[in-house]
Amino acid sequence: MPEQVTTGIIEQEILGAFSGSDPLSIQIPRALKRVQEYMHASEAMLVLVSPQGRIRQVFDTVSMHWRVNSVEIRQLESQLIEHAAPTEPVTVESSGITDVLAPIHQQGKSDLVAYLVVRGVRAHGSNGNLSLMTQSCCEALHLSAMNAHLTFNIRDSYLKSTEALAMALEAKDEYTRGHSNLVMAHCMTISEQIKLPEDQRQKLSIGALLHDIGKIGVLDAVLNKPGRLTEDEYDMIKEHPRLGVQILKPLVPQFLDLEVLDCVLLHHERIDGKGYPEGIGGDEIPLLPRIVSVADSYDAMTSLRPYREPLMPAEAIQELERCAGTQFDPDIVAALKKAFNL
Ligand SMILES: [Fe+2]
Repeated sequence: MPEQVTTGIIEQEILGAFSGSDPLSIQIPRALKRVQEYMHASEAMLVLVSPQGRIRQVFDTVSMHWRVNSVEIRQLESQLIEHAAPTEPVTVESSGITDVLAPIHQQGKSDLVAYLVVRGVRAHGSNGNLSLMTQSCCEALHLSAMNAHLTFNIRDSYLKSTEALAMALEAKDEYTRGHSNLVMAHCMTISEQIKLPEDQRQKLSIGALLHDIGKIGVLDAVLNKPGRLTEDEYDMIKEHPRLGVQILKPLVPQFLDLEVLDCVLLHHERIDGKGYPEGIGGDEIPLLPRIVSVADSYDAMTSLRPYREPLMPAEAIQELERCAGTQFDPDIVAALKKAFNL
């Protein structure tokens, strides 16, 4: 079969992966799977780059990664800076393995929007064939790369707005100022200790930042009441996880992952099922909200509150250990203790 016909078919087949109503986070990995198969490669990735050439987002054959900052991504960025040309595909040979780094431009313009990175290419025949095949794959992926940029921009604006909301919440209550960021920091400490995968870490960091966002809908007089809360007032406070979900739900799944919503809804659940608002327990509570729960309580205990002095870190860990297995996941408590060397 002539090469041009073959590459035309490949392009059509890859474009076929974009049919249906699935979000880009599913369609692009599906298309990359076809690229991987056609090029007999070990890995295929679509790497979105900013106008400054920095990596914004990476899609592989399995999933999509927002806000990438892992070691692998930094290595990929160095490889692109070192080897890739902004104008035409290059092949990088190392120890008999061929990687293809192919730039994808905005249609009709020279602006670089993404790279197609195909690793471990085998059985590609002549270089001419490989180059045609790469060109077809880039043509097929071009539009989705542009759309992914648009989605990224919208999602980024949205995230900045929700971060502003989180700050607005903290402005409502001076004693919790900085709390969301500290809970996020403790969550990251735990996630490193338990070696949580990068995509889960990203969801956890957003979930931690936004976990109490629903408190924005709780009356100031209740939220900042200096004395003891009445039962009705406590019931109002207990509504904040559900209020948070109401605020954020319209953004799922396009701009916000469902797991982020889990952190908002379920961070006051307890292992023994005596938490709120759902009253679920044990493994029914997903891992991410179990982490937020420990980080949230640790920060609350070690921060100054109007009614008490802060606990020392070791004292707070002791308290978490006392409640491990009833309120908290014991593995998460142990991970925080180990990370803090306590
Ligand atoms: Fe909360």
